[in-house]
Amino acid sequence: MIVGVMGAMPEEIEPILDKLDNVKRHEVADNIYYTALYGSLDLVIAYSKIGKVFSALTAATMIERFGVRKMLFSGVAGAINPELRIGDLIAATKLCQHDLEITAFGHPYGYVPEGKVFVEADARMLEIAASAAHKTGIKLKRGVIATGDQFVADTRRKEWIGETFGADALEMEGASVAVVCDAWDVPFFVLRAISDAADMDAGFDFDTFLKSSAKKSADFLFAILDELDQAK
Ligand code: ADE
Repeated sequence: MIVGVMGAMPEEIEPILDKLDNVKRHEVADNIYYTALYGSLDLVIAYSKIGKVFSALTAATMIERFGVRKMLFSGVAGAINPELRIGDLIAATKLCQHDLEITAFGHPYGYVPEGKVFVEADARMLEIAASAAHKTGIKLKRGVIATGDQFVADTRRKEWIGETFGADALEMEGASVAVVCDAWDVPFFVLRAISDAADMDAGFDFDTFLKSSAKKSADFLFAILDELDQAK
């Protein structure tokens, strides 16, 4: 099975590449894709660069050019739900775009015609992740993730996103990857470790915890890959 493993930033995929042998490098459409074997899984790994456009491009390229048939995203997020603390892991049950807005035409926030407000993550992948969490004794929360092309460092904006979409965490790539995978019928899973609380300290906290939280997410991703490898 060909499995895509995406991050948005170098820090999010370096801890993944570090654990793989015989990694090959491919340059496609102004980005670098890495391929490697992990057990019986053919992995395609890349960081997209930050934001919805770059992440959609990378997801589409992985599917179209590299034949990816399952997509996993690993990275960091800002917490909305106060129960989420720095370093906590959250798996998206569904994702939305908090900055997509044509409400002037009577549509709800996050909706455009022929689209949908929420894209649901693959139920089987969520089960596999729960099983990996159980086996490794790692706590994995589930929740709604809201995506937008903005780094949120503002309590009022964060609360609005939480109230409008019922979101637990926010980041800048998950929903765009979800839209691409949904269109191509590729099951996907978005995993994030909390790096900040999207509040006035978010910039400082993000810089402080990016590496450690990205590594937590990457480490748990391997538990999921082990489970996926055994499940097939
Ligand atoms: N990713 C991690 N923290 C974030 C934040 N506060 N806003 C947007 N994306 C993030």
